[in-house]
Amino acid sequence: MKDLVQRAERLRADFPLLHQRHPSGSPLIYLDNAATTHKPRAVLQTLERFYTTTNANIHRGLHWLSQEATRLYEEAREVVAQFLQAASPQEIVFVKGTTEGINLIAHGLRQVHFQPGDELLLTAAEHHANIVPWHLIARDIPVRLRPAPLRSDGGLDWEAFQQQITPRTRLIAITAMSNALGTEMPVSAIGALARQRDIPFLVDAAQFAPHKPINVQEWCADFVVFSGHKLYGPTGIGVVYMRHPWGETLPPYQGGGDMIVEVRWDSSTYAKPPQKFEAGTPPIAEAIALAESIRYLTQKVGWDFIQAYEQYLTDYAQARIEEVPGLQLFGTARPKGAIWSFYSEAVHPHDMATFLDQAGIAARAGHHCAQPLMEALQVPATTRASLAFYNLPSEIDSLAQSLHQIVHFFV
Ligand code: ALA
Repeated sequence: MKDLVQRAERLRADFPLLHQRHPSGSPLIYLDNAATTHKPRAVLQTLERFYTTTNANIHRGLHWLSQEATRLYEEAREVVAQFLQAASPQEIVFVKGTTEGINLIAHGLRQVHFQPGDELLLTAAEHHANIVPWHLIARDIPVRLRPAPLRSDGGLDWEAFQQQITPRTRLIAITAMSNALGTEMPVSAIGALARQRDIPFLVDAAQFAPHKPINVQEWCADFVVFSGHKLYGPTGIGVVYMRHPWGETLPPYQGGGDMIVEVRWDSSTYAKPPQKFEAGTPPIAEAIALAESIRYLTQKVGWDFIQAYEQYLTDYAQARIEEVPGLQLFGTARPKGAIWSFYSEAVHPHDMATFLDQAGIAARAGHHCAQPLMEALQVPATTRASLAFYNLPSEIDSLAQSLHQIVHFFV
């Protein structure tokens, strides 16, 4: 274990932000990685290099800068396709983030797929980004959201989930890892069920992607979405994987330049996917920097290290948080990612997070964009500590020590 911790300590040198101090003078302890991760120097340098050497708009320019920018942008698509084990880069659409990705899919399915009375099967742990886009559909076509319940340990109630599949189920859309609990869902098993029944299957991998490798084909997924900024990449870039032939089936999300073949006053024809879904100037530098974050993660850091070390951190954090009297810990089901949510009757989560901040600890308090889940847990909010491979056991010790002090103060 010592080797893993030493490796994490060395990797921290790649992240300039982690070496800042909190305004109080305390060392910064950043435990809000589920909200966004910090960026390694390689990603920051890629952004700077692009803007200082290559900046140009893509696809429509004949000059060399434009051609080089286009080459890097399309290479980024290949890197993402490989990261997801997609069959082809043509199945990869660049968007702004997970939320825009799900809205794009929902917009398309509304037009070609849903009928009144259709049902969407989700889990009780969904982020609002995988709830509200479907409500927007329901304004036009009365479809019904059916959330499958969780067990008391935060794991999916598999029996109940299967029972909720009916002849009216026309989409299964689930998170691969709960942003509030860290709970991992049985994605491959759900994908197999969906494929058997010919039900399209969408996976929100925003939280899963930084922690574990993805194979969209093993998942039997039709759609997978994730965000760059939670994967050590920039904000403003995300990915939609669309299994062929969904890219052909779905209509465009937005109209404009770069997504057309021909435009006349009375009509237009559209480019093939993925261009069909990328109207206007896309986030070029961000896509190229996302590819760099994927290279950094998979080649420099490596999944073997990430999985072994984060598992250790998860277990260590559970043990230390459980020692704090009166704290209720949510989401103990395994497998799980390095995210812990907890609640104390004595201290409102917002007060808890404010006190933690005074000790230099960045944790998050609130409903975590998962209000239906908070309702199911019967709490108004939780405090959440979410870890990355650059966190250290000593930081978890500081968290535990502060939690002891806060609870002691209030009780
Ligand atoms: N979805 C992000 C989170 O869970 C913002 O914090």
